[in-house]
Amino acid sequence: MPIALITGASRGLGRAAARALAQRGWSLIVDARRAGDLADAMRGLADVAAVPGDVTDPGHRAGLAAAVGRAGGLDVLVNNASRLGPSPQPLLRDYPLDEFARVYDTNVLAPLALIQLLAAPLVAAAGTVVNVSSDAAVEAYPGWGGYGSAKAALDQLTAVLAAEEPSLRCYALDPGDMRTDLHQQAFPGEDISDRPEPETVVPALLRLIGERPPSGRYRASDLAVPAVAP
Ligand SMILES: NC(=O)c1ccc[n+]([C@@H]2O[C@H](COP(=O)([O-])OP(=O)(O)OC[C@H]3O[C@@H](n4cnc5c(N)ncnc54)[C@H](OP(=O)(O)O)[C@@H]3O)[C@@H](O)[C@H]2O)c1
Repeated sequence: MPIALITGASRGLGRAAARALAQRGWSLIVDARRAGDLADAMRGLADVAAVPGDVTDPGHRAGLAAAVGRAGGLDVLVNNASRLGPSPQPLLRDYPLDEFARVYDTNVLAPLALIQLLAAPLVAAAGTVVNVSSDAAVEAYPGWGGYGSAKAALDQLTAVLAAEEPSLRCYALDPGDMRTDLHQQAFPGEDISDRPEPETVVPALLRLIGERPPSGRYRASDLAVPAVAP
């Protein structure tokens, strides 16, 4: 049974991805900061190890690595947990530097730290790393300089990792707009009910994991054809 670790699985895309993989027989390790929300999100799924905690906490990351050890390996790491930053998002000239550092801690340092901790089992499995990116990584939207530049760093980190680790598949996945808490934070007070549900992105993720195209940056919209269950 393949094994995946998905960060930020209590709601949004992480929850949708975890439920889809669990329903396809995957063994999962998942996290989120709020333990109760994570337990609720994973209720009814078989073979899910929920490890609540903050991906920026080295002790929590060690707990995730220990769970991978107990599971006996790792085929797929999905770095999905993310921090938007202040809402509404400030212009760069006004961006509080302590919050800028927290955005980078969550969106860049924590994914790299997990890749480092889990490199051995991922390489042993000739596995897959999916780092969830954003169009804000490549588009210069005013106000998105903190989150967007962190996602750009994550994209480049993914590309270099792919060059350094040819036995792995390494993807930056841009999911597109989704109707989630993070998106609502980015557009405070706006009606976001026209945005697609995060479940609509799952076929693209399943396709990356199942078909394993060459490492690179992919937009979910470019992969949005019926997925083959891995
Ligand atoms: N929504 C969009 O329109 C959109 C567009 C482009 C890219 N993305 C990307 O898609 C991914 C998923 O976003 P989403 O919209 O699904 O977000 P979401 O609905 O807000 O869910 C975020 C998940 O991550 C967890 N989380 C947040 N910070 C964490 C931390 N420090 N440690 C551990 N878990 C943490 C949250 O639970 P807790 O709060 O309990 O920790 C929650 O489970 C993110 O990488 C985001 O940048 C989203």
